[in-house]
Amino acid sequence: MKILVLNGPNLNMLGIREPDIYGRHTFQDLLSMLNTWAAELNLEIEQFQSNHEGALVDKIQSAYQVIDGIVINPAAYTHTSVAILDALKAVGLPAVEIHISDVDSRESFRQISYTGMYCEKTIKGQGLDGYRQALVYLKETYGK
Ligand code: DQA
Repeated sequence: MKILVLNGPNLNMLGIREPDIYGRHTFQDLLSMLNTWAAELNLEIEQFQSNHEGALVDKIQSAYQVIDGIVINPAAYTHTSVAILDALKAVGLPAVEIHISDVDSRESFRQISYTGMYCEKTIKGQGLDGYRQALVYLKETYGK
């Protein structure tokens, strides 16, 4: 089973950006954890991070008929991007949205999620472990 893990803008700054909210683990730490979890779950993962909306749309489109599921933290684009929502709808793959922080207890604009209108599950406020939970969910629900 092949999973695409997508991270949106500023997540490459993990460990540096607002550590009180996002923690002290770096983006490289997250990538290492993803590789470990994927190996434990016997999943193949492809990871991609971009600060650019169009690059994320291109990557989602490239998953069509190649990837079995998507784990996406669209970061700030969560709250603004109809284009990413439409790309997810276009490829029609099972998708889980993840947020490191508990967006529900933050500013009101973070409580709107365009991408969440497509994703079948949203995991919030679980720190980096949310990515592991998303992988487990896709494996248990769609694993082959
Ligand atoms: C985030 C929450 C978003 O509101 C924010 O813009 C991010 C990260 C999270 O993982 O908690 O960049 O998606």
